[in-house]
Amino acid sequence: IDTAIVVVAAGSGTRLGAAAPKAFVEVDDASILAHCLRGVFRARPAQVIVVAPESHLDEARRVALAEAGSAAGRVTIVAGGSTRQRSVAAGLAALDPEVATVLVHDAARALTPPEVIDRVADTVRATGHGVLPVLDVVDTIKRTEGDFIAASVDRSELAAAQTPQGFPRRALLDAYENATTDFTDDTAVVAEAGLPVRRVAGSEDSFKITTPADLARARDLVRRAPR
Ligand code: CTP
Ligand code: MG
Repeated sequence: IDTAIVVVAAGSGTRLGAAAPKAFVEVDDASILAHCLRGVFRARPAQVIVVAPESHLDEARRVALAEAGSAAGRVTIVAGGSTRQRSVAAGLAALDPEVATVLVHDAARALTPPEVIDRVADTVRATGHGVLPVLDVVDTIKRTEGDFIAASVDRSELAAAQTPQGFPRRALLDAYENATTDFTDDTAVVAEAGLPVRRVAGSEDSFKITTPADLARARDLVRRAPR
């Protein structure tokens, strides 16, 4: 298998404010992590590396094996770090030797369609570039300076970044080895290293569960369309 998907699920979910780490909060009878992995295992076969909080390694393994079915042999669970970037780095350390294409995905984007995952992986393989799924920006965005509006920003030049973000293995590993600042997304890490990054179509369903309102939206979606 030449593709790996690193699912980062080691965050605490401060903005969600639930009792458990965010990935282990229930959407319906299944957690955010379980829903995310459901999409991952419906995409084409890949090594699946779940990066979980140290305190939840056993729980992450249980959830992953339940969702994996016959793909259980391709599941790896590792402990995360204090920032998203450190958690990604921990996941990258567990790549199988034969993997050539690496996708990095937020567990918090629990309802990401499998087609988006396949589109990102295919585009990495076809181009050798980094690949970012995006949505058009719908809001009017302003640049601010203190209490003042400094400038209008042309919306047509903007895109909202989602995950999974995909890369050729070597380029991603090199970029992570040389990263100087802490980024919240991986295309920023490889762009700093000079790798071109392409856009492909993301999905409205790939929204990140960040706040209680986002969780309510996810609950509403799975109630209407169980998966
Ligand atoms: N993440 C991680 N390790 C960290 C921080 C974040 O694996 N140290 C993961 C989260 O689990 C999540 C993804 O990165 O799937 C995106 O991060 P975010 O939505 O910010 O999640 P949290 O950091 O958990 O939430 P918050 O910022 O509100 O605390
Ligand atoms: Mg965070």
